Amino acid sequence: MRIYFPHAKSYRLPSKDPFYCVSFYILKRVRKPKFNMPPLVRYKIPIIGHTYSYTFNSEEFLKQCKKEYGGIFSIYVWGQVRTIVGKEYSQEVLSRDDAFYFGKAFFEIIPYDLLLKHMGLVNMLNMPKLLKEHIFCKLNFYSERMQKCLHSATQKYIDSNVHDDPKVFDNMYFLIIKIISTPVANVFIGEEESKNDEVVATFAEFTSDLSALIKIPPFLNFFYPGLLNRILVSSGLYNPAIKHRNILIKYIKNQVCKRLQEKAKYGDSWKRPDDLLQDIIEQENIDFNNVNYPSLADKMLLFLFASIHTTSNGCANAFMDLASHPQYIQELYEEQLEVHKEADENGVLPFEALDNMKKLDSFIRESLRLTGHILALDHSVLKDYTFSNGLQLPKDHTVKIYVDDIYQDELLQHVDTNVPASKIGKNFMLFGGGKHACPGRHFAINEINFFLYNIILKYNICTKSGKIEGRRMYSPTAYPSSSGIIIEKRVK
Ligand code: HEM
Repeated sequence: MRIYFPHAKSYRLPSKDPFYCVSFYILKRVRKPKFNMPPLVRYKIPIIGHTYSYTFNSEEFLKQCKKEYGGIFSIYVWGQVRTIVGKEYSQEVLSRDDAFYFGKAFFEIIPYDLLLKHMGLVNMLNMPKLLKEHIFCKLNFYSERMQKCLHSATQKYIDSNVHDDPKVFDNMYFLIIKIISTPVANVFIGEEESKNDEVVATFAEFTSDLSALIKIPPFLNFFYPGLLNRILVSSGLYNPAIKHRNILIKYIKNQVCKRLQEKAKYGDSWKRPDDLLQDIIEQENIDFNNVNYPSLADKMLLFLFASIHTTSNGCANAFMDLASHPQYIQELYEEQLEVHKEADENGVLPFEALDNMKKLDSFIRESLRLTGHILALDHSVLKDYTFSNGLQLPKDHTVKIYVDDIYQDELLQHVDTNVPASKIGKNFMLFGGGKHACPGRHFAINEINFFLYNIILKYNICTKSGKIEGRRMYSPTAYPSSSGIIIEKRVK
């Protein structure tokens, strides 16, 4: 078994000779200028440090730390020192893209270099550009297809199960992820394959399978950050990419062969399919007789993780919040009835109709803002950095943004009713910020708006418990509630 360490250089010991080791240590201390690091929160048990409080009581634990140590402090969890950045300095982290980077910290949890080994780092770094050039600038063009897919998927996964009586659905996330995956599959690999159950299942399951890696306690971080997940993936003990790559290769091959034949048959009159797959084939000038299918499939898998789990999480939260707050439903229903007047005979809205879903969009924004993470947006320090308050962090350190600190601040809690859900801001950082702020946020918000528009028009929904269902916490990370929801068809 081989385990790859992307930053192995910094972990190589010079020798086992004790004299050499001591000299090396002294030399390192002398050479390294003393950093004015954020205060490390006191702990009693060596090795364990703050791991227990961080895992089981993060909200109270971090509140206490902030009270005692101020806006930036460090904690010792799973064998690593991590710096927690509160509301005063979080914008500094998000706006200084020369000093902080999201992707590298994420690699530590999800080892993409091992999971998607056929695509290469350059392709990975190119992903935002590719999506911007081929999808995000064509949201209007894809809007009709997005809506049709959402309609048919809602029909398939909800409508067909709700007959004359109300029906209870548990864990909406797993149902919503399939609905969200359908338009994404349509835009990524084409109309035809998005109708295939196996394709939609792969789009939905790859991201939820990867989420399991996020939930595994990182016991081996004491030796090397991310080591446990690297072992699990590289040994094949848990590598969801293998199964999903094989499925994608099957369908991508099917498409490529079909397109090749049709192009040869119809020549100039061939109707070129519009989707990301075709865009990639043309942009990269792929030779049809020598296609690197594993690389193409890995590219799709990378896009999936960025787009599906995130959107489904937001959508499931908004759905649960709607069911938990029946007092808002009538007003939102009236707005959607008005918007529906703009629909064509197939129920498809013009793209501009999104501008008229102001209340729904505002509801979604509020639900996204209150996603409920205590800590989020881990960033790696790219170069030695000095905060505006003089505290310093060395290169390769990891910071976590204390998002709950922002939500707890009364002054930042005002609700911006006229601000679109996609607008990032000081109290709205679900999509990150600065140069690397999520470029897919408009795509995601459009999808959630169109989905909920449909739900509100068609169904009455409420929680089975009759109470507000909050988020499910897993350490400092929030997930949508899995509690039961009652869905009933509206009587028109
Ligand atoms: C509610 C849904 C979504 C959430 C919460 C979300 C969140 C995020 C966050 C937090 C980042 C990192 C930002 C930073 O470094 O400051 C990010 C980056 C990114 N997201 Fe999203 N995202 C969502 C939907 C999507 C969708 C649908 C796509 C694609 C179709 C997408 C594509 C990307 C890409 C390509 C990046 C990397 C940007 C870069 O490195 O410059 N996201 N997203």
